[in-house]
Amino acid sequence: MRDAAPTTIYLKDYTPFGFLVDSVHLTFDLAAHATRVTSRIAFRPNPDASDHQFFLHGEELKLIRASIDGATISPEVTDKGLTADVPTAPFIWEAVVEIDPGNNTALEGLYMSSGMYCTQCEAEGFRKITFYPDRPDVMSTFTVRIKGDLPVLLSNGNPSDQGEGWAEWVDPWPKPAYLFALVAGELVAHSDHFTTMSGRDVVLNLWVRPGDEGKCAFGMEALKKSMKWDEDVYGREYDLDVFNIVAVDDFNMGAMENKGLNIFNSSAVLASPETSTDMNFERIEAIIAHEYFHNWTGNRITCRDWFQLCLKEGLTVFRDAQFTSDMRSAPVKRIHDAIDLRARQFPEDNGPLSHPVRPESFQEINNFYTSTIYEKGAEIIGMLKTLVGDDSYAKALDLYFERHDGQACTIEDWLQVFEDATGRDLSQFKRWYSQSGTPRLGVSEDWADGTYTLTLRQRTEPTPGQDEKLPQVIPVAVGLLGPNGDELRETEILELTEAEQSFVFSGLPAKPMASILRGFSAPVILEQDHSDAERAFLLAHDTDPFNRWQAGRSLVQDTLLRMITQDATPGADYLDGLLAVLLDADLDAAYRALMLGLPTQSELAAALHEQGHTPDPMAIWTAIETLRQTTAQHVQDLLPRLHSETVVDEPYAPDAQQSGKRALGGAALALTTRLDGGAMAAQAYTRADNMTQQLGALSCLLRAGKGKEELSAFYDQWRHDRLVMDKWFGLQVSLAAPDAAAQTARTLTEHADFNWKNPNRFRAVMGALAMNHAGFHAAGGAGYALLADWLVRLDPVNPQTTARMCSAFQTWKRYDADRQALIKTQLQRIANTPDLSRDTTEMISRILNA
Ligand code: BES
Ligand code: ZN
Repeated sequence: MRDAAPTTIYLKDYTPFGFLVDSVHLTFDLAAHATRVTSRIAFRPNPDASDHQFFLHGEELKLIRASIDGATISPEVTDKGLTADVPTAPFIWEAVVEIDPGNNTALEGLYMSSGMYCTQCEAEGFRKITFYPDRPDVMSTFTVRIKGDLPVLLSNGNPSDQGEGWAEWVDPWPKPAYLFALVAGELVAHSDHFTTMSGRDVVLNLWVRPGDEGKCAFGMEALKKSMKWDEDVYGREYDLDVFNIVAVDDFNMGAMENKGLNIFNSSAVLASPETSTDMNFERIEAIIAHEYFHNWTGNRITCRDWFQLCLKEGLTVFRDAQFTSDMRSAPVKRIHDAIDLRARQFPEDNGPLSHPVRPESFQEINNFYTSTIYEKGAEIIGMLKTLVGDDSYAKALDLYFERHDGQACTIEDWLQVFEDATGRDLSQFKRWYSQSGTPRLGVSEDWADGTYTLTLRQRTEPTPGQDEKLPQVIPVAVGLLGPNGDELRETEILELTEAEQSFVFSGLPAKPMASILRGFSAPVILEQDHSDAERAFLLAHDTDPFNRWQAGRSLVQDTLLRMITQDATPGADYLDGLLAVLLDADLDAAYRALMLGLPTQSELAAALHEQGHTPDPMAIWTAIETLRQTTAQHVQDLLPRLHSETVVDEPYAPDAQQSGKRALGGAALALTTRLDGGAMAAQAYTRADNMTQQLGALSCLLRAGKGKEELSAFYDQWRHDRLVMDKWFGLQVSLAAPDAAAQTARTLTEHADFNWKNPNRFRAVMGALAMNHAGFHAAGGAGYALLADWLVRLDPVNPQTTARMCSAFQTWKRYDADRQALIKTQLQRIANTPDLSRDTTEMISRILNA
């Protein structure tokens, strides 16, 4: 049964739960269609609460019996939970429920994946396992006994006892129910160990299905590096005797930080050189770090309520970004993050789904695991660190861990430690958490008698529910360059706090060129009217690697926009500037590869929309094709040199150095393919001994309309490997020509290996369709209709994954009237589907009400 009228939850309505939980004992009798869960929970009245109504969440549970202090009761049960009369003194709640993991396709609660039992409880999945106060501010120790005829039985904490067909686990650290986990299956372990800073030995296991043992080594190394890094940089030590990671094939998200038992989408942990790309390796290293770092930022200190989600996610994304910067190249990581933020967070923040980093209301919390809460949330931490400085940041974090260990906290608690550690007033800074929308930064300058005045202006467009915006605290990193490219002033942080503010630099020998927003010091849109020549100057001379890249990016974006709106041809400033960068052997390969990147078609559509044009997806696609062709011709003579410079002689390693070379080599191959029709790519395909190069070569061929044979050889070679087959499905849709994308996707949905109930496979096809901008938006609307068909079909099976994919439609108001009408028809069709989930209902109504 689904809700007739969805209810909205408000942050302002928060009240503590009426009871505290002193301990939880759970026993699981596993059976695919009738698992029995017995709970024994010690409650006592919460002295800090005023409401002592006893309500326990519970959904899709069959209550077998319940008792209080040993006396059987008949509580009132609805589809949301139960209420009961309880003593005013401490009492023991006991219940037995039955659940059906074998039919749980939503992948939330206890479910089955490839014959194994596993759980996903964040955010509100524990209520599908047993009756419980399923809210993050209720924390307790857990003891879990698992009975089942499977060889491996895992839960949180440390193993305490075991026998034939059962195992018991004790987690001594109080935790909210969303961090509960259970896994049972025929699994094999890749094991290692780690000695912590205080000398304790921790057993590390990566549990996988038999056959996947060869894909564990990299993840294990990443885990050990993460553990060491968190000790070295944050002074955080691991706190159990064992750390288990399990890989599962069916998982809605990337990975989950359950205490002592992280559960990973197999795509986010399993890797080998033959089956994984360099990008896969980098992502795996980051996700392992991320989930491990949650042990302190999320688990030991958790969130009071789900409105505070950014407290753990923003901070942990920030921490994993720091880790990646330290393990790899800091400028390259920063550029990647800026690209991602602009590609994913900016459209969200400037469209119908815009919401504050700390939202004030929601209908379905699963819809708020967004790029805004994660990535903008991480940017806020970065700005805070920039504003207070590294030493104060470290002091504040020490205070945070000391003051709040074991607690469920709020953003107010977080900011308070910074105020206490630094004496700074952060009340204006706090607007970053409450105001949605991306601030725009305007710039004007003045030069007279050796004095340079930089005037900065900020403005944020209205967003849903927020018409008036107040000025935010924006740290703007600025450096000044002289006419010959020398640095006249090193980077300094200007604190913009007013709507408009001027900053004066005096005693300068010559009119400087300002390099603004260095290192992407704030998640804002910089609106600066530079000429191509000025951008080319910064591209050649900026001493800040981020802004040097940014100069090239702006130059190429302006070039493309002029090609689209004015039929212009690519100018020499861009083409020669690019050539100079590619020739600069002082720049590392990864950085040079980034310089060859282009804004996405969707970003160009957004930019056109901002300029008052209606984006034409086909015109955008054509401009990119033309620019690529022109670029290939322009750098033609350099290509042989790039190919030889990027040969890797050593055995494959997914490190920053080698993957940078392969990225540049791959970009060079793509350009070469535009000149030789695919001859070199065909050779590269045959020669490739790793997935990065195999997939890279295949992509070149498919983009050139070739590669039929290679594509089927690839299938034959990899049909046994699900993760590689996801790539095979995805690639065909991503690289399909605009007029063929929807048909290609449709044909693939009829393929015997298209298992649409598996989120990875579903996303491989439908996610790729939504990302193929010109294909998805091809005239006629076949792409829209196909995606809508599949969302309607998936919704009753897996609402979470369905709802997330609705965001493909969030930008619909940018496009022409025909496309808007076509999309609207599909949105309404989805909205009118009987019994649509709460998840999808909320997403579609927000998008429709744009
Ligand atoms: N806590 C989340 C996983 C999660 C998200 C569970 C939504 C339930 C609902 C986890 O820490 C996470 O953030 N995972 C990310 C990857 C990470 C590297 C940003 C994910 O799963 O995509
Ligand atoms: Zn997380």
